[in-house]
Amino acid sequence: VVQPTPIQIFPSLLAADFGNLETAARKAEAAGADGLHLDIMDGHFVPNLSMGPDVVKMARRCVQLPLNVHLMMTRPDPYLARFIYAGAGTLLIHIEADCHVARALQTIRALGSSPGITFNPGTPVSAIFPVLHLVDEVLCMSVQPGYGGQKFMPSVLPKIREIAKASFARGCKLRISVDGGIDMRTAPQVAAAGATLLIAGTSLFGARQMKTAISRMRKLAEATRRHSCSKVATP
Ligand code: DX5
Ligand code: ZN
Repeated sequence: VVQPTPIQIFPSLLAADFGNLETAARKAEAAGADGLHLDIMDGHFVPNLSMGPDVVKMARRCVQLPLNVHLMMTRPDPYLARFIYAGAGTLLIHIEADCHVARALQTIRALGSSPGITFNPGTPVSAIFPVLHLVDEVLCMSVQPGYGGQKFMPSVLPKIREIAKASFARGCKLRISVDGGIDMRTAPQVAAAGATLLIAGTSLFGARQMKTAISRMRKLAEATRRHSCSKVATP
């Protein structure tokens, strides 16, 4: 019997009130989130600046949830250890980063965190295949990274399908996540394509009741998800 893949929902702290990040992290946990997504921007890889390792440390202190840390940085390599010691359970770097990506992914694992690779909407999915054996998670960007609240790009859907196929061929050990413009309309689309971890900022932090929004998003995604893969663990 093939077990259906559980759908995980990770609110993105970027959409929270920056004057109350601790409250926001606790709110996500209380609302039934499976983890928390933290966006780190360097003002170079993307035009925006956001948060650093101390915000990760704060989140680690106040919630039990797995922390999924997304580095939008041209040079992530000198900072890997700081984010891992701050509490990043998963550390994601971009394939477009200006560093030795394979070595950086190996360093993340050696330092005790779960390595993930992510890629921009303009990057072909084939770019990540050479490092697929080094990662636990593939994050498909469905907007241009840098800002929350942007419109979902459907061009990500065939990419998710291709990664799901590659993951199936490898025994379904990959978490396939999507980031950008995920809401009640797009969540079922990405789940149908094979995504197992949905990252959502605006639609969850902007919801009247985050708890209701998370359970609704989960239900909608589970109704359309692919049933080909079994359990995918998140550290
Ligand atoms: C965008 C970030 C996303 C962002 C998503 O650069 O990587 O994580 O928070 O926000 P929404 O869900 O509002 O598109
Ligand atoms: Zn992100």
